[in-house]
Amino acid sequence: MKASWDTQVYCLIGDPVAYTLSPVMHNTAFKKLGINGLYLAFRVPTGKLREAVEGMKALGFKGFNVTIPHKVEIIRFLDGLDRLAARIGAVNTVKNDGGRLIGYNTDGEGALRALEEAGVSPKGKNVVVLGAGGASRAICFTIAKLARKLVIANRTEDKALKLAERLRAELGVNVEVCRLLEEELAPMLAEAEILINATSVGMYPEVENSPVSSALLRRDLTVFDIVYKPLKTRLLREAELKGAKTVDGLAMLVHQAARAFEIWTGVTPPVEEMRKAALKEVRQG
Ligand code: ATR
Repeated sequence: MKASWDTQVYCLIGDPVAYTLSPVMHNTAFKKLGINGLYLAFRVPTGKLREAVEGMKALGFKGFNVTIPHKVEIIRFLDGLDRLAARIGAVNTVKNDGGRLIGYNTDGEGALRALEEAGVSPKGKNVVVLGAGGASRAICFTIAKLARKLVIANRTEDKALKLAERLRAELGVNVEVCRLLEEELAPMLAEAEILINATSVGMYPEVENSPVSSALLRRDLTVFDIVYKPLKTRLLREAELKGAKTVDGLAMLVHQAARAFEIWTGVTPPVEEMRKAALKEVRQG
């Protein structure tokens, strides 16, 4: 659709934003649905966040996504916070609600939908999450109440302990913690049904790294890696070799975008079209 005075403008702010797949996903959805919307990406360095938010507000942007390094810092510039985003302590989606900026976090929901799409629900399952950073927090706060048991394994044990403590205090769930070491992970994974890598291990350019020894992977373990560059990480390749079901990070990326789209427009976007557009871009890039 041709841009006009009443085009609804959305964007991503972060630093860096080069190679982001968000514009292609959202613009594909706008086009497919015949919505007069436009999604752009802006590099906003630290220190320019306040001005960027004021500018978007003044220009009447309908909503925006937030990425590294602003996901936590953005909160003090918002007028309201969704409960899940408040618990996670980070925001990746902001809606301009008649001049009030409301923060949401769709990363955890994106992960949950990616699993469900593969026919796997964490409901009643024993789940091991690797990592205790921002992505892990979003995933843990979204799935902790569904899972029968949740284990958080992290290189820095202290961060995992703090996250587990917050999950227990805020959701009243049972969470165990271990370090990201083979001997500590082995007994946890032996009982697990779902493994989620929420660390950056295996991400380009260190594509030969995996957070877990392949000896710990099995056929009846669903393995989900949030890393999407490369699409098939070493962890996913090794899991496939064992015959395990795998879920890649692109699925989560597409679903977190779809959830943001729903929050902004109230309309369910064409997820398959968004995925195809993102895949095409990934393969070209
Ligand atoms: P994100 O927002 O993507 O989650 P983050 O908050 O920086 O990013 O968290 C990165 C996660 O990946 C952390 O759990 C980190 O472990 P530490 O808490 O010990 O730093 C994990 N991580 C990053 N590089 C790692 C590596 N080489 N080995 C093990 N874990 C790693």
